[in-house]
Amino acid sequence: MADPTPDAWQRLDAYFAATLVGHDPALDAAVADQNAAGLPAIEVAPVNGKLLNLLARMSRARRVLEIGTLGAYSTIWLARAVPDDGRVVTIEAEPRIAEIARANLSRAGVGDKVEVKVGRGADVLPTLADEEPFDLVFIDADKESNTIYLDWAAKLGHPGTVVVVDNVGRGGRVADPASEEAQVIGTQRGLELLGRDPRFDATALQTLDAKGWDGVAIALVV
Ligand code: DHB
Ligand code: MG
Repeated sequence: MADPTPDAWQRLDAYFAATLVGHDPALDAAVADQNAAGLPAIEVAPVNGKLLNLLARMSRARRVLEIGTLGAYSTIWLARAVPDDGRVVTIEAEPRIAEIARANLSRAGVGDKVEVKVGRGADVLPTLADEEPFDLVFIDADKESNTIYLDWAAKLGHPGTVVVVDNVGRGGRVADPASEEAQVIGTQRGLELLGRDPRFDATALQTLDAKGWDGVAIALVV
């Protein structure tokens, strides 16, 4: 058996992606336009996008909330998972990025199912309190605010809501209690909240995929 060198795990991820995820023109085009606009290539890996899609379908999510849109790669995966009368609300802080996301969503044929809200998560989330609760929440924005986002996920969800947090591994650095990296500390605070807050039951898995060594937390609102 090969050691898990970067070569070996990238080959395995590519095999999983080719075998189980496949290629998709709308998703490829969304990533191409995001890159062409000079945005960071930090969309989730294909295997992770498919995981989001499956989790939404497994939980029969009709209303999905995403915090952190970027080029809408994960948003497209989520929008495809909700039924015709479902909705994805996604929050993007930068107006210029939100425009790129809207164009990518339209081209993917899911523009009518998705509402891109422009603003900081902490400002937009309170405005959603009067809406129907969300069945799945995907948190993938500034890691420093993860505890705020998790608190809102619980408030805007219901018992049974699935909460997914991206980037909980960060190359293993999240296990360093002495880290002074703001994104690592924010991620640690979020995981600690998931561990102690009685509103959640959660786990986390390491990921080794096209985006490197990272992790994903999956929680249930109880
Ligand atoms: C970063 C953010 C992400 O959401 C991600 O998936 C990878 C990296 C970052 O801010 O560094
Ligand atoms: Mg991310």
